[in-house]
Amino acid sequence: MTQRILLTGGAGYIGSHTYVALVEAGYDVTILDNFQNANRSVIARLEDLTGQPVTLAEADVRDATTLASLFAEHVFDAVVHFAALKAVGESVERPLDYFDVNISGLINLLRVMDAAGCRKIVFSSSATVYGVPDETPTPETAEFRAMNPYGQTKISGEQILNQLVAADDRWQIGILRYFNPAGAHESHLIGEDPRDTPNNLMPFIAKVAAGEVEELEVFGDDYDTQDGTGVRDYIHVDDLARGHVLSVAALLEDGQSHLVNLGTGEGHSVMEMIAAYKRASNRDIPHRVVDRRAGDVPIYVAKADKAEEVLGFRTEKTLDEMCASSWAWITGPHSQEDPDGEDNT
Ligand code: NAD
Ligand code: WQD
Repeated sequence: MTQRILLTGGAGYIGSHTYVALVEAGYDVTILDNFQNANRSVIARLEDLTGQPVTLAEADVRDATTLASLFAEHVFDAVVHFAALKAVGESVERPLDYFDVNISGLINLLRVMDAAGCRKIVFSSSATVYGVPDETPTPETAEFRAMNPYGQTKISGEQILNQLVAADDRWQIGILRYFNPAGAHESHLIGEDPRDTPNNLMPFIAKVAAGEVEELEVFGDDYDTQDGTGVRDYIHVDDLARGHVLSVAALLEDGQSHLVNLGTGEGHSVMEMIAAYKRASNRDIPHRVVDRRAGDVPIYVAKADKAEEVLGFRTEKTLDEMCASSWAWITGPHSQEDPDGEDNT
């Protein structure tokens, strides 16, 4: 029988790619999203891509009544929980909003799941839980270090889930710590579509290459790295989406809870990313070195072997494929859409 998955935040960047991967793997998927950081037109594009209508609940993950009626309407076998606020700087300005959506939202969802007897959940965690790690590549055993309210919400989310499993063995959880997701779906119909000026490197470089932003500021070139600029483990979003399918399958098949990093195990500096994007776009990327960004981490690279042992997960896409897909997405037809979601193409 077809298994049914609820995807919270499924209209967002990673959620939309995971939706396609889950549908392609044969799951029946319902998206719940309040579109606070997603464009409504993504739903039509997901329908084009998969050739089937999207089952959508437009709702806030903190809205217990709507969630309960959704669980009364459908029997879900598992939930993949993406819905969250994710901007680090904003989390310092509005910590309570982050605690509310990311922590209260999670607890609310777990309560409704428990009442409905659905006790399998995949949780979006982040390399940010490691703060400034002692070890690189960083293993899952590295200690928690909160650097900001956003990071704290991911640590708290993991702790809540771990305590829940310890207290009630009917629960099974998959905790996935993503490193730096980048790139876009090979169809170029979906990709990263930030509503505001992007904070993250890849979407920012993309805007500079496209001529929408004049230059990239490189935050520091005096780190102890190959060229002095910050190093990250960039993982193609399609690889990341496949990691979620494997995590869901593991929960549904053998019911084993798991905690894994999702990364490539390789790091690239800001300068290497600029060079790679230049190759992919054939455009200049004007850039200027400025001071270090407050609270920045010099190096984040995943120790990636546990995901392979536990889930059989290995990344497949290269850095050049990542940049090429980002460029194809940024210059594709979606760029004609208005920000409220009407497709003007
Ligand atoms: P995103 O903002 O593109 O997606 C989040 C989705 O959740 C959006 O569609 C948004 O509209 C929705 N949402 C937000 N608040 C909601 C609420 N209260 N109720 C219902 N829906 C709500 O972000 P993303 O990059 O796809 O991230 C997905 C998850 O992965 C998040 O939990 C994020 O913290 C985590 N994560 C992201 C990164 C990254 O760099 N992108 C890295 C590590 C972890
Ligand atoms: C990458 C590198 C910057 C922008 C953030 C969140 C983290 C996680 C992933 C969700 C760094 C440099 C960046 C720019 C630059 N998200 N940079 N100029 O710092 O790994 O983490 O996204 O969980 O929580 O903090 O990613 O893309 O912001 O930066 O030089 O305009 O690019 O200094 O070295 P980061 P990033």
